[in-house]
Formats: sequence, C-alpha cells, structure tokens
Amino acid sequence: MTHAIRFHQTGGPEVLRWEAVDVGAPAAGEVTVRHHAVGLNYIDTYHRSGLYPVPLPSGLGLEGAGVVEAVGEGVTEVVPGDRVAYAGGPLGAYSEVRNLPAHRVVKLPAAISFEQGAAMMLQGLTAQYLLRRTYRVQPGDTVLIHAAAGGVGLIACQWAKALGATVIGTVGSDAKAELARAHGCDHPIVYTCENFTERVREITGGAGVPVVYDSIGKDTFMDSLRCLRPLGMMVLFGAASGPVPPFDLNLLNTMGSLYVTRPGIAAYTAKRDDLVAMANELFEVVESGKVRIEINQRYALKDAAQAHRDLEARRTTGSTILLP
Ligand SMILES: NC(=O)c1ccc[n+]([C@@H]2O[C@H](COP(=O)([O-])OP(=O)(O)OC[C@H]3O[C@@H](n4cnc5c(N)ncnc54)[C@H](OP(=O)(O)O)[C@@H]3O)[C@@H](O)[C@H]2O)c1
Repeated sequence: MTHAIRFHQTGGPEVLRWEAVDVGAPAAGEVTVRHHAVGLNYIDTYHRSGLYPVPLPSGLGLEGAGVVEAVGEGVTEVVPGDRVAYAGGPLGAYSEVRNLPAHRVVKLPAAISFEQGAAMMLQGLTAQYLLRRTYRVQPGDTVLIHAAAGGVGLIACQWAKALGATVIGTVGSDAKAELARAHGCDHPIVYTCENFTERVREITGGAGVPVVYDSIGKDTFMDSLRCLRPLGMMVLFGAASGPVPPFDLNLLNTMGSLYVTRPGIAAYTAKRDDLVAMANELFEVVESGKVRIEINQRYALKDAAQAHRDLEARRTTGSTILLP
C-alpha cells in the first residue's frame, strides 16, 4: 500500500483526503513512477472545485518528477531507474507512487533536479507554447502578462525578456511587483490599485500591445482587449478569477480586428514529438540560466489542502511543490 490525495466530492480544500491506495503493476504502455516531488498548479483547484468536472472519486494533480520503478509491456520511452518528469495525463500526481502512460513522461537531464522538474513541467511547457507558438514573441515586442509573479508568470516574464521583448506584467501587491521586476518584468503594474489599461497605453505611447497573456479571466478579460493594438492577439489561458461570460464577437471587429484564442496545454503536447521538443527547449532555457525556476513554497504532500488554500488566497509566488 502507498498513499495518495483523493477526493470523493467537489468543494473546498477540505474535500481532499490522504488515503491508502493499491497501485498495482503497470498495464501495457504504462510506467510506474515513484515521485520525489509533485507540482501544484492552479488547474488542480478547478478539478477539486468542480469548475472542470471529473468522474468521482478521483485522484488529483497533473505534474510530478521521480524515478521509473517498472514498465509495462511495449514501453520503449524509458527503462526502470530513469529519472523522469511529466505534465498532463490522467489525474493522480498527488501520490507517492503512480502508474501513467509512458508517452507522457520525459527523461530529466542530469542538471535538472526532481524538485525543479516537478515545479516547471506544466508551468514551463505552458510558457513555452504561449511565447513560442500561440503568439511567437519577437525581439522588440512589448507584451502584457497577467499574474506576472505567479508560477507561469515568473517563468514567462524571464523567457519573454530573454527573447528580446519588453515585458509589462500585472501583480496583486508591491512585494509581487518587486519579485516580477527581478525576473524580467520591465513594467510591473499593481492591478489591484492601478488601472492597467491606462498604464499599458501610457507605456506603449498609445499604441497598445500585440499580445496579452491573460490567465485571470472574468476580472481582466474586457480590459485586456482594450490593451491590444489593431490585429492584436488575446490569449486567454486561465480563469483564476472565474470563467469569462459569453460576449459579442462583433466587439473584436470594433476594437480593431482582434484575435482571441483559448489554448490549453493538452492540445499543444498531445503529439509525443511536440512534447519532447517543447521539453527540450524548456530544459535548455533553464540549463542556460536564462530562466530560473523559483520554488517559493514547499508542503508535505499530505498537506495539499493547505497548499490549495494559499494558492487560491493569492499568498503564493512562483512555483509550489508537494513532497511525498
Ligand atoms: N491553459 C493552459 O494550458 C494553462 C496551463 C497552466 C496554467 N494555466 C493557468 O494559468 C494561471 C496561472 O497558473 P499557476 O499555476 O501559475 O498559478 P499562479 O499564477 O501561481 O496563481 C494564480 C495567481 O492569479 C492571480 N489572481 C488574480 N485574481 C485572482 C483571484 N480572484 N483568485 C486567485 N488568484 C487570482 C494571483 O496573483 P496576483 O495576486 O498577482 O493577482 C494568483 O497568485 C491559472 O489561471 C491557470 O489555470 C493554464
């Protein structure tokens, strides 16, 4: 028997339970991974609360790093003893040991620790596809990144800066503004007391930005559209303040022939070749020192409920890991 966090009903952090589970041998195409660290992500709170419905009872979590203990029939990607990390796949990362499809895992380079692997796979691969594929950031671009001091935020600010962009970032406090500034954000805006649309217009001399990366959703969506230059790209990739209600598509025309996309990591990493190429690019920017993975909170895995409370109360910065 090993242990995992599971939930039998949706709700607040109190629904998370530390339970004994029987993992069993890996099925064909699966690997057994013993976690050394597990990643905490905002999407975990959507699964727990029911915003993103999942069949119950369920495990939780999409990201971890550890050692392969066993492989099922037909597995060619890894062998027992390999150090690996993953993002995505079936829920169940909040566990000491688990089985998951072998095509989801990638080998960790020697220079990347288990803790870094667990902290950066989901948030780092997200930053990769947002900046390199959804809207490909060019040197000289000025970009707007919301929640700039968060997990995705700190990685995206550093990466966008390394690509030659000027980075405008929104944050919830002065302390977060300083943190974002130290990670490549040229113009932090405390959006809880400043009007970020006006500030973006000021910073860009009235022109607006070619892209907004918005993971806040309901509270920022309309104002984010107002920050875009004509033909700009609105990238809505999260809902930390709640989902965006339906809106009139004709507004995209009157606001300057804007584009809107609502991407998710699953589609961008669905093909194994894409996943491996994206992970290699992420490992490269981390190994080069251009992007530092800031693990600013660590919790025992069995205290995942407290980690959820802190994340939802905006008390965390950078990445957070859970330790089995
Ligand atoms: N689509 C995808 O592929 C994908 C992948 C990964 C993550 N995401 C999304 O990206 C976002 C960031 O994820 P993360 O794991 O790195 O989390 P995070 O940014 O570390 O935490 C969320 C942050 O959102 C900000 N926020 C603004 N309004 C909020 C509210 N009403 N309630 C709570 N937080 C609020 C807070 O920062 P301030 O205090 O500075 O405002 C908070 O720290 C999430 O929305 C997540 O769903 C999407």
